[in-house]
Amino acid sequence: MSVSQLARAIATSPTMKLNEEARLLRERGEPVIHLGIGEPKNKAPIPAILGAAAKLQTGDVKYSPSDGTPSLKKAIIRYTEENYDRIVGPENVIVSSGAKQSIFNLLYAILNPQDEVIILAPYWVSYPEMVKMVYGVPVIVTPEDGSFYPRMADIESAVTSYTKAIIINSPNNPSGVIFPDEFIAQIVEFCERKNIYCIMDDIYHKLVFDGRKPPSCFQFTKRSPETTKIIAINGIAKLYGMTGFRIGWAIAPRELVEIMTNIQGQTTSCASVLLQAAAEGALLGIQSIVENLRLHCQNNRDIVMAELSTMPGVKCTKPQGTFYCLPDFRAYLHPAVATNSVQLSEFLLKKAMVVTVPGKEFGFEGHLRLSYAGGVKDLQEGIARIKWAIDPTSPNDIFIGDKKLLRDWL
Ligand SMILES: Cc1ncc(COP(=O)(O)O)c(C=O)c1O
Repeated sequence: MSVSQLARAIATSPTMKLNEEARLLRERGEPVIHLGIGEPKNKAPIPAILGAAAKLQTGDVKYSPSDGTPSLKKAIIRYTEENYDRIVGPENVIVSSGAKQSIFNLLYAILNPQDEVIILAPYWVSYPEMVKMVYGVPVIVTPEDGSFYPRMADIESAVTSYTKAIIINSPNNPSGVIFPDEFIAQIVEFCERKNIYCIMDDIYHKLVFDGRKPPSCFQFTKRSPETTKIIAINGIAKLYGMTGFRIGWAIAPRELVEIMTNIQGQTTSCASVLLQAAAEGALLGIQSIVENLRLHCQNNRDIVMAELSTMPGVKCTKPQGTFYCLPDFRAYLHPAVATNSVQLSEFLLKKAMVVTVPGKEFGFEGHLRLSYAGGVKDLQEGIARIKWAIDPTSPNDIFIGDKKLLRDWL
């Protein structure tokens, strides 16, 4: 079939693909445990449901302004003030169909062909592909010491005259780490000095553990909303576990919002008014759901760390936020099992019916991303199955569903 070279070069979203594989296996009645999925299991908050239902009941479901309904934008302005201590106007806010679309529109708005975007490994799988989709060049910077913490010196040496933006995602998907304040301060200062956009993907900013305060990207700039180089991306997907509602937003200088609005106006027109009403309900409603979700994730983080510590070869940096961790499984790569993370992930799905995401997709080979957004039982059983499949010191047999399985490959 004739398709463009560019389209052909875009990789499938590995997480979407794994979700589909897991769904099909489940449909066939297989006892799959999904440690790959990036979504909590909670139900949507009541105020969100009521908001959408009330709008639906009016029957008045039309286009909204391309940049979002005025009332949702008002709620976002309030959220920004309360959580970031930052006063912005409606001209600085654009609502999209998910943070994913906000980031895409932003990249489309700022990149000329061949412009470069610095992406820090381990990175969210979609960043490099989205940069490529708008004819940009992703420049991956990987910490030399194998840690998940980027170093300013490495970033500085990757910057060229083509660099247009640096993407920062902290708390980080997939590692769960939070970058130190000093690093964020340095990055903001650097970007403002060099006239480079600093894209702060803050989608996990409230899912932080151990008494930490959610980091605020804006606290390190003295510039006004019109002159800052910081573009903040946020949304309701992770904040309220409302992944299917597809509402995200960007906070940016007016000129950029206008351009992003044109882009959106010519592609999707606007985000659905029903879902915008739901997002507004969630933002204005009682916020206890966020704290419940945060506590659930923190508790699960502790469980995942305890379970992984029973596999002495696995090294895992303790997450400080999100619902992911990125353990290093290199000590368990073995010709009878797998020699890289993609093979290991496939092996675990086939033998142990556990979904994981290969570290290669995040720029960290030899690792697997595990999501601990789900239930405790799945988490414990999932890791027990992984252990059975790859650790020769674990017992040889295991029950998966009602089948007793024997490990005969190690
Ligand atoms: C780092 C990061 N940014 C953005 C998104 C996209 O969020 P949304 O579902 O609002 O498009 C995700 C989703 O997994 C993510 O992990």
